[in-house]
Amino acid sequence: MRGIFIALEGTEGSGKSTIAKRLAESFRGQGRDVIVTREPGGTEIGERIRRVLLGAGSSGMLAETELLLFAAARAQHVGELIRPALDRGSFVIADRFSDSSIAYQAAGRGVPIQSVAAVQRIATDGLEPDLKLLLDLPVAVGLQRRLAFGNESNRIDTEALRFHTRVRNAYLSLAVAEPQRWRIIDASGTEAEVWKDVQESVTVAIRVKRPDEFSVCQDDHRRLS
Ligand code: TYD
Repeated sequence: MRGIFIALEGTEGSGKSTIAKRLAESFRGQGRDVIVTREPGGTEIGERIRRVLLGAGSSGMLAETELLLFAAARAQHVGELIRPALDRGSFVIADRFSDSSIAYQAAGRGVPIQSVAAVQRIATDGLEPDLKLLLDLPVAVGLQRRLAFGNESNRIDTEALRFHTRVRNAYLSLAVAEPQRWRIIDASGTEAEVWKDVQESVTVAIRVKRPDEFSVCQDDHRRLS
């Protein structure tokens, strides 16, 4: 059976990587094969593109160059890692996917949305996450968290508050427009609160995708009671 693809999206400091790790532990505890990956990156070529995008010396990068490099890393990620893993039946958890480009390159940088969407069609080859979790929180809170944890900043993190606010609003519009694929998680709470919300959302989504597995559990439950 094909695996399940979950993408974590959100603005800076929203806690995506912590949630990715906890989700992976929880799926592995259920005996599933899990791959945790990130964008830009996830493959050797993708990590090299990441260094060009986010490393030193790229301050003069044009928005169009940025869009195409994120997309190049994504194409490699999909073809080399994500699609083969899904075909093997693995669960794939990605820290960012194509909606990051809609939010950052279209809404944040101002590249026309039609161009960003057209490039995504090439990069993803039509692959869409089964579930997209938007870890949403006020932009200032996320940026403060980032500073508090002493995380390294890159040239995109250090954009103005206005930029990050456009990114956040774009994510919220995407999520509201496609509620069957997105779940909005309030990421401003404690780690325990956020995790509880994530678990609930993921359980519901898997039930919808895998009704057979769920009915097996229900049958077992009936037999036991
Ligand atoms: P990273 O350090 O991984 O940050 P985060 O923890 O916020 O994911 O840096 C990734 C940066 O790249 C982040 O600022 C968002 C940006 N980005 C885009 O602008 N477009 C994209 O398509 C992707 C995948 C990331």
